[in-house]
Amino acid sequence: MSVVPNAGNGKITVPELLQRKSSAADSPAKKIVSLTAYDYPTARLADEAGVDVILVGDSLGMVVLGYDSTLPVTIEEMLHHTRAVRRGTRRALVVADMPYGSYHTDTAESLRNAVRFVKEAGAEAVKIEGGERRLEMISRLTEAEIPVMGHVGLTPQSVNALGGYRVQGKTADAAEHLLRDARSVEAAGAFAVVLEAVPRELAAQITRDLRIPTIGIGAGPDCDGQILVTHDMLGLTFNQTPKFARQYANAGELISEAVREYCQDVRRGTFPSDAESYHAVKMLVELEDAPVNRDGDW
Ligand code: KIV
Repeated sequence: MSVVPNAGNGKITVPELLQRKSSAADSPAKKIVSLTAYDYPTARLADEAGVDVILVGDSLGMVVLGYDSTLPVTIEEMLHHTRAVRRGTRRALVVADMPYGSYHTDTAESLRNAVRFVKEAGAEAVKIEGGERRLEMISRLTEAEIPVMGHVGLTPQSVNALGGYRVQGKTADAAEHLLRDARSVEAAGAFAVVLEAVPRELAAQITRDLRIPTIGIGAGPDCDGQILVTHDMLGLTFNQTPKFARQYANAGELISEAVREYCQDVRRGTFPSDAESYHAVKMLVELEDAPVNRDGDW
């Protein structure tokens, strides 16, 4: 199922991402490029285009499953999509988001859930949201040989507690708290940390402070890497997107246009054409119920 991560075969590994930390500061070419994917074709296209880390994010719930937050996403849904992404990925590191509720009860159950992502779905790491309060959990998972990516700042699974999706760390106290969160994640053994929706200056300070790479989303350009939700950057989401979500293509418009054209062609009788049809062999044409030519002219 997975691609064996041997040094030198181009496969992105956790140790390699840790090494990039020192070089990313001096050379943008070494920055960690990350995107979300939830299915085989998207994972394959992202992997072949050179993305380093593919996150099977629980944003799946909002951009693919149509929920209005990430909270309803289940572990079975995440496992199903992680397997599809695994099958489409050869080079990038595959990280699976642990959904809300799968690491919020006791440590033993959380560990069992994390192990499922590695054993049953082929994830190479898991991501969990939260800082200081996840210290013990992250330590436990890393002790069990599961690399953990942390996630601090705006943590969408805390939407009810935070009272909405807002930029975090804007006051001196909040910034101090966020720095503590990031340090805790590192101290617990995480190999990287996502900084979501935090002021650029604070993200830069955290990036300088930590030995593990920071991966920003709405955190400015000074992080060691960047991540975007693929559906946002391709124009495939229906809600207003945040200002950091640069749109690189309008795939939504391309799809609508193609589907409108197809509807028109069928209704005008111009699809399918004769060339797009199979033909019976000549001598059988006059026979009733002539069988379709099965000579492989796909
Ligand atoms: O679920 C997700 O896609 C994420 C990224 C936004 C970091 O957590």
